[in-house]
Amino acid sequence: MSKITAAITAVHGYLPPNVVTNHDLAKIVDTSDEWIRTRTGIIERRKLENGSTSDMAAEAVKGLLEKKGIDPLEIELVIVATVTPDYTFPSTANVVCDKTGMKNAWGYDLNSACSGFIFGLQTGSKFIESGTHKKVLVIGADMMSSILDYEDRTTCVIFGDGGGVVLLEPNEEGLGIQDAILRTDGSGRQYLYQPAGGSVNPPTVRTVEERMHFVKQEGKTVFKFAVTNMAEVSAEIMEKNNLKSEDVDWLVPHQANLRIIDATAQRMGLPTEKVMINIQKYGNTTAGTLPLCLWDWEKQLKKGDNVILSAFGGGFTWGAVYLKWAYNS
Ligand code: UT7
Repeated sequence: MSKITAAITAVHGYLPPNVVTNHDLAKIVDTSDEWIRTRTGIIERRKLENGSTSDMAAEAVKGLLEKKGIDPLEIELVIVATVTPDYTFPSTANVVCDKTGMKNAWGYDLNSACSGFIFGLQTGSKFIESGTHKKVLVIGADMMSSILDYEDRTTCVIFGDGGGVVLLEPNEEGLGIQDAILRTDGSGRQYLYQPAGGSVNPPTVRTVEERMHFVKQEGKTVFKFAVTNMAEVSAEIMEKNNLKSEDVDWLVPHQANLRIIDATAQRMGLPTEKVMINIQKYGNTTAGTLPLCLWDWEKQLKKGDNVILSAFGGGFTWGAVYLKWAYNS
């Protein structure tokens, strides 16, 4: 019997309809469209007005199931990568299963910040490769507006709301996930984090007054680590799999900053046409960026394409996944 690999066989996404432009943000914090565009590449992002992370994830799941003609009862496992869960517990996966009728599935949340989707992809693929599961959903979704300080110009301009989902199924043609290199370095935790709400700083009047429930980032430091590590790990996975620049069809990079994406593509020797970039439309949706790229580019992806997904995020966490795209849409 041929080896079973885990392949993405469908992708869908959800973006809240409400658009917030750089000009809108310039009305509430001391910033400008010019600063945001030139430093990050972002022009606009989405903001969920009513609802939560699970609502966005559920919409993405419903779209995927409808598109593939799959009954929700067929889904066996749901992994939700997010830093903005509906609750500390129960998991957002539980809520998504309830909202979409996936009554036969079990699921859990995975928190690896901006690398969450690739960590989820690698985790989910193991359930397929082992033969224990046939239909696994990996979701990356974040409602960053729920933890953004709209008085802090250094963070509120960067992030947005949205998310996406992929279906993993067994493949016997050797397509799907080929390799992954994933890393964590907790010594970087103070450079990008949400200081309060967990067991270090449980919620109190003081933590609220000191605005400790919002995202804090030391941008320059994170930038330096991101630019080095995302480029390095992407080159490393190419080398490990004997891939030359011309063998790679697509880079799917985390959308945190256009300058980080450009540096990664340059290190891999890839021209812009092979790089998925939608940061200008959605900003940084944390765990949502990679599935949203795949969704935006789904029609251009061809069966057999060599695709490298790459991310860097809070924690620090980073890594790359190499896969062979499994279908033509
Ligand atoms: O997705 C997870 C991983 N996260 C990342 O990868 C993000 C990595 N970091 C970055 O992308 C960049 O560091 C930022 C986009 C966050 C910031 O860009 P930067 O070029 O590193 O700017 P900076 O932090 O060095 O700030 C430069 C100046 C400062 O003013 P002074 O001290 O030079 O007077 C900031 O106060 O820009 C100022 N500034 C702003 N000005 C206008 C910071 N934010 C803003 C703003 N509008 N929104």
